[in-house]
Amino acid sequence: MNNQKRSEPTIVVIFGASGDLTSRKLLPALYNLNLDKLLTDRLAVIGVDRIAKSDEEFRKLMRQGVDKFSRRGKAEDGPWDTFAQDLHTLAGDFSEDGTFRKLADIISSKKKEWETDANIMFYLATPPSVMETVARGLGNVGLTADRNRSRIVCEKPFGRDLDSARELNTKLTAVFNEKQIYRIDHYLGKDTVQNILAFRFANSLMEPLWNRRYIDCVQITVAEELGVEHRGGYYEKSGALRDMLQSHLMQVLCCMAMECPVSFNADEIRNKKVDVLRAIRPISEEQVHLNAVRGQYDSGQVHSKQVPAYRAEQSVSPESNTETFAALRLQIDNWRWHDVPFYLRSGKRMPARVSEIVIQFRPVPHLAFPPRTVPDIQPNRIILRIQPDEGIEVKIQAKQPGSPMRLKSVAMDFLYEEAFRVPEPEAYETLLLDVILGDATQFMRADHVEAAWSALMPILTMWENVPPTDFPNYSAGSWGPDSAVMLLARDGRNWWVPKLQDSKQGHGQT
Ligand code: NDP
Ligand code: BG6
Repeated sequence: MNNQKRSEPTIVVIFGASGDLTSRKLLPALYNLNLDKLLTDRLAVIGVDRIAKSDEEFRKLMRQGVDKFSRRGKAEDGPWDTFAQDLHTLAGDFSEDGTFRKLADIISSKKKEWETDANIMFYLATPPSVMETVARGLGNVGLTADRNRSRIVCEKPFGRDLDSARELNTKLTAVFNEKQIYRIDHYLGKDTVQNILAFRFANSLMEPLWNRRYIDCVQITVAEELGVEHRGGYYEKSGALRDMLQSHLMQVLCCMAMECPVSFNADEIRNKKVDVLRAIRPISEEQVHLNAVRGQYDSGQVHSKQVPAYRAEQSVSPESNTETFAALRLQIDNWRWHDVPFYLRSGKRMPARVSEIVIQFRPVPHLAFPPRTVPDIQPNRIILRIQPDEGIEVKIQAKQPGSPMRLKSVAMDFLYEEAFRVPEPEAYETLLLDVILGDATQFMRADHVEAAWSALMPILTMWENVPPTDFPNYSAGSWGPDSAVMLLARDGRNWWVPKLQDSKQGHGQT
């Protein structure tokens, strides 16, 4: 990142600044960008919130976030103090114009102090229900008028279903141009997700294989060992399908399945992704039970530590029917992918934090080796490890040394850490810098968000109308409910079990 241009004078306004995202991700990212000298010296951050606090209190809270969550560990006093000088706070109700008039005054005095105009990023680190109110408030006081310099960043989930996403798009575009709107999905800021396109489109080796002729199925797993933590209030209204599948896993699916763009122009890439989403075979409500599985974690052990059930977590109803696990079987109806299932799963309180994509190839058309030489033949697989242990593994058969002839499944391994020997920036560093520099390539366009909701609507509707009868249905520390195993077993397949870093288990089929 060091050769990127430094940004212009910038004011970052964060709505929802006392929330988890701000201290866990946004401030550590801005601080690290600053340490890497990728930001202008003229950077101010204004945290807007309902609860009044002094600038000093705000700085202290943000320092705690940086100390705890920055990839560089604790901040050093000198650089932090310089950075923190321009962290400010403003308290106010988001539904009152007065809050926005005060904000406009702070912005205008900052520009006067700097004796220059500035780019302004409005970051909505809030639930979707608040976004329209904030956008309207900004518009009412003219803070969105400069189409080139003002930008709005909307966190996911964008809306809570297709209708609310459409409505939010309409309301936002009444105040901002589409080009000013950055709908963020932080998975797109991960180097390993961006690398899917490099792997596919910068290597001629892959393209001939990347289709229904050679690929048997694709499995996308995003597993977390953490539970819902203190985010029960948010999560109860969201659930795994909205929180993870609709955004992060659908993005990964698009990168895996899209056609090669003509250029790396933002709209070129985004057009190709939308094509994938539109080609997802609609699932009728009668077919939901065959293509979608939900789960909720019970108490159990994660890394030998006893953890509570979801229903016993803070701010969660003891009768909650919110899903903490979701798995889907999707089909993409186009020439490349017809009849190749894409299996997606994501859950909390799984055995480990691991995200990976497994591309499973078809068996060879004719196996010339006698069965005794290949006692345990495995399909070829390419495993793209998004996190942790970032890298790519290619599983092939190889001859074991000596005689008699015996074949064994072995791995060719590429590790980011070994190949590049530089620490990966956090996804939010990459994406915040993109917004500051005005590059929308890794952000979702309105039609993308709507197409992603559209593909999932039958499942959302069915799950809302028919409550689950078996929750909680998986123990914390397991790979999810039995029904997720059945989802693949019906097709004669198994989930690939990711390799777990701190244990010898894993890397095989369930
Ligand atoms: P939190 O609940 O921790 O914070 C939400 C913030 O929004 C709080 O400051 C809260 O203020 C404010 N807020 C909520 N409702 C209102 C309202 N009606 N009026 C004014 N302010 C309000 O959530 P997170 O920070 O975890 O998440 C925020 C967004 O970021 C979510 O959409 C989430 O999906 C997304 N996200 C979060 C990630 C994370 O790691 N936390 C990662 C990726 C995305 P108050 O404290 O006064 O209630
Ligand atoms: C967020 C979800 O978008 O992504 C969280 O709201 C989840 O529930 C997080 O924990 C996972 O992100 P990562 O980068 O840790 O895989």
